[in-house]
Parts: sequence; structure tokens; C-alpha cells
Amino acid sequence: MKVPHPIQYQGSKRNLASIILRYFPDKFKRLVEPFAGSAAISIACAAREKAISYWINDLNKPLANLLELIINNPNEVADFYENIWNQQHQNSLEHYYRVREEFNTTNDPKLLLYLLSRCVKGSVRYNTDGRFNQSPDKRRRGKRPESMREQLLGFSYLLRGKSITTSFDYKNVLSHVNKDDIVYMDPPYQGVCGEKDLRYFSSISHNEYITALIELNDRQIRYLVSYDGRSGNKSYGKILPDTLSLTLIELEAGRSTQATLLGRDVVTVESLYLSPHLAVEVSALPSFHKRRSNQQMLLMEPQDFFG
Ligand SMILES: C[S@@+](CC[C@H](N)C(=O)[O-])C[C@H]1O[C@@H](n2cnc3c(N)ncnc32)[C@H](O)[C@@H]1O
Repeated sequence: MKVPHPIQYQGSKRNLASIILRYFPDKFKRLVEPFAGSAAISIACAAREKAISYWINDLNKPLANLLELIINNPNEVADFYENIWNQQHQNSLEHYYRVREEFNTTNDPKLLLYLLSRCVKGSVRYNTDGRFNQSPDKRRRGKRPESMREQLLGFSYLLRGKSITTSFDYKNVLSHVNKDDIVYMDPPYQGVCGEKDLRYFSSISHNEYITALIELNDRQIRYLVSYDGRSGNKSYGKILPDTLSLTLIELEAGRSTQATLLGRDVVTVESLYLSPHLAVEVSALPSFHKRRSNQQMLLMEPQDFFG
């Protein structure tokens, strides 16, 4: 089955989901995603029937509400999207700005689905007042309504009756997880604009996050974290300290478009960290996953990669 992805979201892990899932146990009780975004990992797990239940959380309330609405009322969301998508034909840019204004006034999650589908690279941008201020993509009209309906129904089919959706701060979520859970965390990127990353609704403090991970280790919680990365020789994001005893898996995520334009072949690599208890359970060793041009990923142990 093709995994449905109704929400276009910059930073979505949909393209890396199959490789990330290799580091999950075969079956477990509950998947918890404190920084769910488009919930790409929850939906990938649900498609493979890995967990019995799912806790999907994101501090961005309209986004969390949208996920809940898609899961429980997919046809209502699909009808609304179809209607709003069809209204854009006369003057699609003016229409987009009108919808954006309405969203900033009402926070209606159904409007957010349209904005994400229609804005530049599906990338949320907020100004310092918390207003959505991303521009429309001038070349694209957004996912067609019939395809959107299919994706919405598929998403709902896989998660309905087995998921809860909340919009808490991640620390609140982590205080409620237990040893039966698998926690997948993909926090907002740090180091982009200081502590505040306007690409998402909110950003987190690196030090507070490390403290939270230390507590999870003490409580023997099984977790995975997507965090820093590198593009060519340049690292982005602060790395997680060795004292956390995490196992580092590096995932080749693609080529930098900007560098390719400049005639340089620069590969972007994302870090995935496994908690001590999970690494033992799934017998994970530090590894590097190379991505072939056909998008298939190959597993190479460090000795293969570094020759
Ligand atoms: C990198 S994105 C996650 C992308 C996601 N893995 C996906 O596949 O779409 C990080 C998310 O964390 C959310 N976030 C930011 N600060 C948060 C906080 N303190 N607690 C919970 N979620 C937060 C943002 O709204 C954003 O959606």
C-alpha cells in the first residue's frame, strides 16, 4: 500500500521513513511522536501495523487539530478542501492571501491544509506575532481535490480508532511516556536563527532538550531522535553529547540543490540517534545509509563507507 501523505510539510520525514523504521522493533504497544508535524513516521508505522496505538502531538494547535480532523472526519476535510481549491481559479494569488488572512483570524485547521498545499515548499513560516506569513507558490495550484481526498481517506483509515492527538509542549508528553512506548522525536532544527526557528511555530532550547533525554535514559525509555546533520563538510545544528550514550545512524538525505547549481556535488546527511535501550533491543551499530540515485537506500556499515 502506498503510504498516504495529505499534509505537505517542509522537513517531513516521509522520504526517510522506511529507513528510520528499520530501527523500530517489529511490534510494540504505542508510538509517541511529540513533534509530529505531518506525522510521517506515525502513518508509516500504521501502514506496517507496527504499533497498537499512536499518540500524535505537536505544539502547533491548528496543525494538531488538522491531524485529528483528518483522522476522524476525512470527508468533511476533503469537501472543504475541494470547495476552497475550486475557488482559486479566477485570481489564485489574491485568493491565497485572503485564505491566509482568514486563517490568521480564525485558526481554522481546514484552511491550514489548503495553505500548506499551496504555499512555497509546504514550508510553514510564522512572523514574531505567530501569524502564518508564508507566500504562495506561483507555479503550483496545490494538490488536486480528488488526489487530496484519496490521501485524507487513506490517512484516516490507517489511524482512526487507534490514535490520540494533542498539542502539548514536548516535555509534558515525555513526562507521560512509559517503557512500553517507542518515542520518535524530530524537534525543530536548531542553530538556524539562534533559538528561534521561524520555520516552525516554535523552537526548543538545546540544553533543556538534553536534560529531557537524560531523564528518558534514566527511565529506560526507548526512543529515536532526528537532530543535527551536515551538508558536505558543513554541520548544522548542535550535536548530542556522548554522555547520552546514543547510537548514531547517518542517513544520506539527498543532494543540495544550491550546491549542484554551483557545480559542486554536495550531499546532505541527517543524523538519527537511538537510545541505549532501543539500540540493544534492535542490535543497532553506528551506521551510514547511502542513498542511490534511484532513491533506494543501501545499508553500509562504517568500515564499508570509510573504506
Ligand atoms: C521538524 S518538524 C517535525 C516534522 C515531522 N517529523 C514530519 O515528518 O512532518 C518539528 C515540529 O515540532 C513542532 N514543535 C516545535 N516546538 C515544539 C514543542 N516545544 N513541543 C512540541 N512540538 C513542537 C513544530 O510545530 C513542528 O511541527
